[in-house]
Amino acid sequence: MPDLTDPALARATTPARWFETITNGRQGTAMPPFGPASSNPLSEQERWDLVFYLYTLSTPSDQIETGRRIYQGRCAACHGDDGTGSGPAAPGPMPDFTDLAMMAQKSQQELFETVTQGRPAKGMPSFADELDEEARWQVVDYLRTFSYDYTPPALAVPGKDPFAGGPGVITGQVVNGTTGAVLPQGITVTLIAFEAGPQVKMVGTLSTTVQSDGSFRFADLDPEAQVAYVVTTEYRGVNYGSDAIQLSVSKPEGEVTLTVYETTDQADAIRFDRVHIFADFPASDRLRIGELYIVSNAGDRTYVGSLQIPLPDEATNLRFERGTMAGRFTETDEGFIDTAPVLPGEGTTELLFSYALAYRDGLVITRRFLYPVNSLNLLVPDVGITVESEQLGEPTPVPMQGEVVYNYSTGPLTPGQEVSWKMKGKPRPSTATAAGETSRRPGPTERQALGLGLIGLALGVVAAYLIWQGWSPRRALVRVRVASDRQALLEAIADLDDAYEAGELDEATYRRERSELVEELIERMQAR
Ligand code: HEC
Repeated sequence: MPDLTDPALARATTPARWFETITNGRQGTAMPPFGPASSNPLSEQERWDLVFYLYTLSTPSDQIETGRRIYQGRCAACHGDDGTGSGPAAPGPMPDFTDLAMMAQKSQQELFETVTQGRPAKGMPSFADELDEEARWQVVDYLRTFSYDYTPPALAVPGKDPFAGGPGVITGQVVNGTTGAVLPQGITVTLIAFEAGPQVKMVGTLSTTVQSDGSFRFADLDPEAQVAYVVTTEYRGVNYGSDAIQLSVSKPEGEVTLTVYETTDQADAIRFDRVHIFADFPASDRLRIGELYIVSNAGDRTYVGSLQIPLPDEATNLRFERGTMAGRFTETDEGFIDTAPVLPGEGTTELLFSYALAYRDGLVITRRFLYPVNSLNLLVPDVGITVESEQLGEPTPVPMQGEVVYNYSTGPLTPGQEVSWKMKGKPRPSTATAAGETSRRPGPTERQALGLGLIGLALGVVAAYLIWQGWSPRRALVRVRVASDRQALLEAIADLDDAYEAGELDEATYRRERSELVEELIERMQAR
């Protein structure tokens, strides 16, 4: 393979030739075409972008920066600050370095020769004596940026305060997404800056009042700060947020739209797009069911009427995802209610919870949903359990990180319709649990990404399963090998204590589970 970081390679070719190669491939080599001849072509723009990206591989940006300074001092007087040949000392007709059609035909090598030898007859001086070889390459690399900006954006600086001042500006517009509704007046919008990392961290906020036309503006932001921004507001008691945006030194301005909606307590537009049900056997006599709902709202008003979730009568030890907003869920006789508002759109709400059921070599489970369900997947690990159900049919084996999970599916279901299945057999310890070495669990950032990625996404079975695994404390025990291990274990122990104190566990189960967790914790501590 050619070494694309070797400057000699980039200097000898021309952008036009590289474009040719990317477009048509190279006959007789493994280099495929990416132009119209490809089954999955790149656009013309994308191919040019690639060509100039290739130049960055052999040209460090500080080299271009040095070249820029040399150009300002030695060349701009004739060639102009902008490279078009508009300098005050131009002796006659000048080349235009911003002309991509002309520049794409020239190699860095050719430009270097001209700078070295000059064209004295035409008024272009020789720089062989004035500039050493390195400086001549630097200035020539800078010339290229007139016709195509191939300097990589300056790197963002971690830990820099985004609100300490700078040229960064975020402008935007609040719109009301409910048909026929008026623009909210006098509302406050807040810009939140956060830093990504092993843990997403909020860095700071700024607030402003929206203009009467719905527009807002946040200025004096430092584009060098390594943060992402989201604009939020509260309208009719519901919080709304924009997409995340980032600023950079080369693009210090950003624009966002923040859509708010009127509210309704009528559930007609609520759908469960996907219902994923996970079955886990933490012990041979205990079944833990996890349920992940992807909830959509097909209307144009935010639903604030609460979702009713019935649970099996025998369900105990109901748990919600850690970090869930306090007071979001209320237990009822039937199950629980979720008071989180459901914004208009697909998959705008995600609901993840689990509960335990006693299991003795078999169990019939019936689930009922009060909203239309588009599709339901029951995911059962390969632990020797059989599932019988008239509605669920034959399973599809899904390979999942070195284990197999059986997917039983059905749908659509009408509101109130029941799904039931019978699980039979004695579960053997899951192979996945033993094979912890080869498995990986999504880390907090990935989990965050998955979680955020859900918005507007029809969630696939594999992604759903990863989320479940990322949450399920039992599985976490064997899988986590990162620094947070001990923390996760300590939290799991605290959870268990809570559950026991609340009378959700019998003493024998509590003691057994606790001693397993403590053993695991000791092992982890010794491993360090
Ligand atoms: C005194 C004015 C002057 C200065 C200073 C000058 N140039 Fe030029 N340059 C010219 C003229 C005039 C031409 C056009 C020559 C021609 O028509 O062939 C030219 C042509 C060129 C070309 C050839 C472009 C092509 O068509 O292939 C390159 C490359 C170039 N200059 C680079 C530089 C660089 C780099 C510097 C600074 C280190 C520089 N020049 C400084 C006047 C100048």
